[in-house]
Amino acid sequence: MCGIAGFIAAPNSTNGLDTVLTLLTNQEYRGYDSAGVVGIDPTNNTLVRERTCDGVRGLAQMTEGSHFPTHCCVMIGHTRWATHGKPSIRNAHPHISEGLAVVHNGIIENHEVLRTFLIEKGYTFTSDTDTEVIVHLTQYHLVWSSHGDLLTAVQHTVDQLEGAFAFEIIAESEPEHIVVARRGNPLVIGIGENVLRGEFYIASDAFALSSHTTQYVVLNDNDIADISPHGYTIYDTDGMEVVREIRTYNMQERTGKGEYAYFMLKEIYEQPDAMRNTLMKSVGVNAFGPHSPRIFEHVEQLHIVACGTSYYAARTAQQWFIDMGIPCNVHMASEYRYSRVLVRPGTLFVAISQSGETADTLAALQKANGSAYLSTLGICNSDESSLVRAANYTFITQAGHEQSVASTKAFTTQLTALRLLVLAITRAKGWCDEDAYMGELFAIPQRMEPLLGLNTVIREAARRYLNVQSAFFIGRGDMYPIALEGALKLKEIAYIHAEAYPAGELKHGPLALIDPHMLIVALVTDDDITEKTLSNVQEVIARGGQVVLFIEQGVLPPVSDSVHTINLGLLPGMSKQFLTTIALQLFAYHVADLKGLDVDRPRNLAKSVTVE
Ligand code: F6R
Repeated sequence: MCGIAGFIAAPNSTNGLDTVLTLLTNQEYRGYDSAGVVGIDPTNNTLVRERTCDGVRGLAQMTEGSHFPTHCCVMIGHTRWATHGKPSIRNAHPHISEGLAVVHNGIIENHEVLRTFLIEKGYTFTSDTDTEVIVHLTQYHLVWSSHGDLLTAVQHTVDQLEGAFAFEIIAESEPEHIVVARRGNPLVIGIGENVLRGEFYIASDAFALSSHTTQYVVLNDNDIADISPHGYTIYDTDGMEVVREIRTYNMQERTGKGEYAYFMLKEIYEQPDAMRNTLMKSVGVNAFGPHSPRIFEHVEQLHIVACGTSYYAARTAQQWFIDMGIPCNVHMASEYRYSRVLVRPGTLFVAISQSGETADTLAALQKANGSAYLSTLGICNSDESSLVRAANYTFITQAGHEQSVASTKAFTTQLTALRLLVLAITRAKGWCDEDAYMGELFAIPQRMEPLLGLNTVIREAARRYLNVQSAFFIGRGDMYPIALEGALKLKEIAYIHAEAYPAGELKHGPLALIDPHMLIVALVTDDDITEKTLSNVQEVIARGGQVVLFIEQGVLPPVSDSVHTINLGLLPGMSKQFLTTIALQLFAYHVADLKGLDVDRPRNLAKSVTVE
């Protein structure tokens, strides 16, 4: 979702504009529909603002050499993922109300009611956003209902807001303050290394701050903070001063693209190490949290909830639990949160999220925490996310920071975590041959290397399909969830309409769509249903579809001019789903790259979906 940035320092101490632009660049993966900054010009204490639909780079160009005062030491900025109001300058943040300016990430659900109230009070709205009510309402409290200072005005505003938000607000009347607030959406304050300059930074995540400082605090839900060059004070929901722990960012997380054209390709290549790290850090009976075996011993069934790629990780693992005699239901978080769910005794709730900030997944976890589950477990790639704080037990995948919007290494490390969960539960019940199981798992990262070696072969295959409009991804049994994930990758980064089907289901309707323009991506592995899948492929060939066949070594591919075969080598045991996933990631990547698309920043999307 949107990224918010802020900077405050002693007057004239440094170039505030550069700092805020860098903080925005660091979190552009959160949204890139538009960008803007506003600062308080120290020469006359007035707000100066710039906004653009050309991203942070465009913003830097606009402000360079212009009237914009680079030496502002109180400045906030925003990079937007549009929710209310299309991407345009008028809807770009910051929004202003007579001497106040705000940037916001989230959704104000009661914005219509507040808008009506504010219009009655004489305020004029200049955007279609829900955000604008925050700034007018604070202006109203500050100036008209005489509640005192900016902090008090924000406290009154927050009391009236419904929905999710993280916002920053500045006022001409208090040129040495930034007031920030969060509920539902993340917000961190970075503490500058130069104490004399009184520098503080604000961002949506610690990664964004790490270009400037390693020291930071994470605000809790409903915290409000008043930040000035003299320090910061945090208040809880009752207005009481509270202290939040100062954390240190691990700089190893901060890496560039290196030799790779895009972060996505780099992150695909990082998967062997990401999986190894996840396995290494997870050895021991308490990998899922202290005393987790005592809970796992009583697990009778599982409910797993997630969104997008994380949901497909859950779908992939579902059968692993069932194979071990543990019933497992998998739900999309956005559906789960509003559905009636039967929770039988002994059910463990598992939420999976790369970011740990996905609004639907967090809401599902909140619902589960209030239900009759045995316990709740969060599988997450960020150890200081909201999900990790809310779950009773946690497992942190060691994928490292994932920067490309399309998830890759997070997926395979989630699969790793889920494999380890199977082991942890069955071990707690005394059902498992642990050594054989771990031996197989530890062999997978090494088996990934030859798959990555198919990069050029897959790129050449991808080159044939740049003009297709639609694709079906087909597979049976344990290949079907991988087909789902492969289709998601292709649609999100290559803008090709792609659906996944269990191969045997095609004849029940979708076959009607097969013609020479339709691409079929078929996954055929060597198992007891290989012949069935091959027959389904033949049905597609007979109807003129173009097929790209990802096939396990040893399986005889159908001979046809319309089939392009990619031999994946041997895919033994547990490695099969991991390895085919990598092949499909590379395929989607190369189609998108060869089409000349911005692979890391697909249109309309953002990493970390913090709105409903
Ligand atoms: C797809 C993708 C999304 C995310 C989804 C959930 O490549 O990245 O589908 O998987 O938005 O995000 P997390 O895992 O952060 O909850």
